[in-house]
Amino acid sequence: MNNWVLIAGGAGYIGSHTAISLVENGYRPVVIDNMCNSSPESIRRVESITGIEVPLIQADLRDSAAVRAVFDRYAPSAVIHFAGLKAVGESVERPLAYYDCNLGASFSLFDEMLRAGCHSLVFSSSATIYGEPQQLPLTESHPIRPTNPYGHGKAMIEQIIMDLGRARPDIRAFNLRYFNPVGAHPSGLIGEDPSGIPNNLMPFVSKVAVGRLPRLQVFGSDWPTPDGSGVRDYIHVMDLAEAHVAAVRALPGQNGVRAVNIGTGRGTSVLELVAAFSAAAGQEVPWEVAPRRAGDIARCYADPALARNLLGWSARRSLADMCEDTWRWQSRNPDGYGEA
Ligand code: NAD
Ligand code: WQD
Repeated sequence: MNNWVLIAGGAGYIGSHTAISLVENGYRPVVIDNMCNSSPESIRRVESITGIEVPLIQADLRDSAAVRAVFDRYAPSAVIHFAGLKAVGESVERPLAYYDCNLGASFSLFDEMLRAGCHSLVFSSSATIYGEPQQLPLTESHPIRPTNPYGHGKAMIEQIIMDLGRARPDIRAFNLRYFNPVGAHPSGLIGEDPSGIPNNLMPFVSKVAVGRLPRLQVFGSDWPTPDGSGVRDYIHVMDLAEAHVAAVRALPGQNGVRAVNIGTGRGTSVLELVAAFSAAAGQEVPWEVAPRRAGDIARCYADPALARNLLGWSARRSLADMCEDTWRWQSRNPDGYGEA
């Protein structure tokens, strides 16, 4: 069987790490990305880490002709779909841009997959689709109640994939619901490179540690959690990358479409993460308490049992690994890929 795997949005944070895991497991990644939130430098570095050429097609997924040309040339046996805009706050301000990009890219990609006879798909969904947790840990049967356009879009794309699976029994897909991806490849060569001031906790903390931002604001100290700060299920991006390889490997034996949580099952508070990062960086990360952020929840963590049973995958890396690898990437690349 052809071992090309098409990675849509593969120049981004999670896609570039997944490209490495795919190569390590005998697959050949080919990337299509419009570079709206990434740099071609990430793929050059993936090539230097793996020693394998990774074709990068710079095109928007909504450009059907460009997507068709990739299927014609490489005939990938599976697609991993990471492409989309992902800032929750921005999605509230610019809902049309989010639906246009995230749904439009998916329509065009799925259409061209079917046209090319490629029926195997892994889609980047998000734990954000569960909304406010009714019970913890979150299982896949928890109600889907997104609270913002970004999350609604993810839930819609999951539904579209399920409807496709009902219409076409030869379609096999995993909707992977990631919890909070953090960390970087241990080489320190690739990592998360947000543009502007980061929205998410780990990139913000690492920008403070490297001296690009003065201090962290901890959003709320009165949450119903052991230390009063918010609790999340942080997962190392290399564990997440390996979950994608496990999913691609499991696709041929899969019947239809399944949603699967990808998390560690462990909750970590903001203050625990700051302490772990300070230890990894060998310096105290300054922080102050600030008001709660609109739309935040107290606690969120996965029940990862289905991933273990269905994909044979579990997260292996610790919070210390996540912090050490983030710090190696950030301290060696204080301006991300910008300086390359
Ligand atoms: P990212 O922004 O680094 O990667 C997404 C990539 O998609 C970028 O390289 C971007 O240039 C590309 N892209 C966007 N729209 C495109 C389009 N129309 N055509 C072609 N390329 C396009 O984000 P990431 O953190 O790597 O996330 C990957 C996926 O995982 C996203 O779908 C995101 O919603 C989802 N996800 C991310 C997180 C997280 O916290 N990072 C959590 C849950 C789910
Ligand atoms: C984590 C914790 C904050 C920043 C988001 C998206 C979600 C998913 C992952 C895509 C919370 C606290 C944060 C800061 C802080 N992405 N915090 N100071 O909100 O769990 O999830 O990213 O699918 O959809 O919503 O992640 O990293 O923003 O926040 O105190 O400067 O850190 O309040 O408790 P979140 P996060």
